[in-house]
Amino acid sequence: MNHPVTPEESARRIRGGTTTRPLLGLVLGSGLGAVMEAVRSEACMAYEELPGFVPSRVPGHRGELIIGQLGGAPVAVLSGRAHYYEGHDLHTVTFPMRVLSALGVRSVLLTNAAGGIRPGLEPGDWVALTDHLNFIGANPLRGPGGAERFVDLSEVYSPRLRGFLRQAADQTGLKLQEGVYAAVSGPSYETPAEVRALGRLGADLVGMSTVPEAIVARQCRMDVVGLSCVTNKAAGLGGNISHDEVLAIGRRVASEAQRLITAFASLYAANEAAGEGSPRS
Ligand code: HPA
Repeated sequence: MNHPVTPEESARRIRGGTTTRPLLGLVLGSGLGAVMEAVRSEACMAYEELPGFVPSRVPGHRGELIIGQLGGAPVAVLSGRAHYYEGHDLHTVTFPMRVLSALGVRSVLLTNAAGGIRPGLEPGDWVALTDHLNFIGANPLRGPGGAERFVDLSEVYSPRLRGFLRQAADQTGLKLQEGVYAAVSGPSYETPAEVRALGRLGADLVGMSTVPEAIVARQCRMDVVGLSCVTNKAAGLGGNISHDEVLAIGRRVASEAQRLITAFASLYAANEAAGEGSPRS
């Protein structure tokens, strides 16, 4: 299905509101919206004002695009995202990635809240994604297409950008682990049997987002870095799970998220935005 609005139309609207030309895109997941407060905002647009965007209706997701500076990097921040579980198709869910690409963004940091599957992953832990499992049951590139649809996903998450995240964690004194993220459709949480199965299949974390965006970002030849905040142990491994608990952990780690992501943006600005980075691949 083709989207009725083109990403270029939406990008034109955004460009009209600011002279900043963002190079780094940030997607702030459940409860991680506090990172916004560290951004020197030059323009702020509600998703309602942006052609092709759908308003965010999930508590903990704001639903605005901010263009500005973070750690010296020109950024476009998507505070809140649309999810497949809200009933949107994956073209709609991933449309903002195409808009970021049309704006000239070269790299995206996709953040999310996730359940920890691997033993030792505790609420509040930070995990850089090394790979993913798409168990949503759909692919955002399905459809008549136009752009290349047989996208190589051998290395979705850029080791170079992950290195910046590791350095950022060292600088800010935070522990950063690595892991494989399994995306499921939700909105119910998993059963313990599903969590055992996901673990045996190689998942360290489970969540309901990120993967469709990462796939489309790669189609658009943007570099991708994924960051999960573990908000709970996955089903069967700890207590009960609730969205309120997910948001509460997000609030608890808000200042860590700000420090980590600001330090990442600084390293990005120093190494990439200065034009020293490797070309889009
Ligand atoms: N499962 C799926 N999605 C999630 C979880 C979980 O345990 N925690 C936060 N998002």
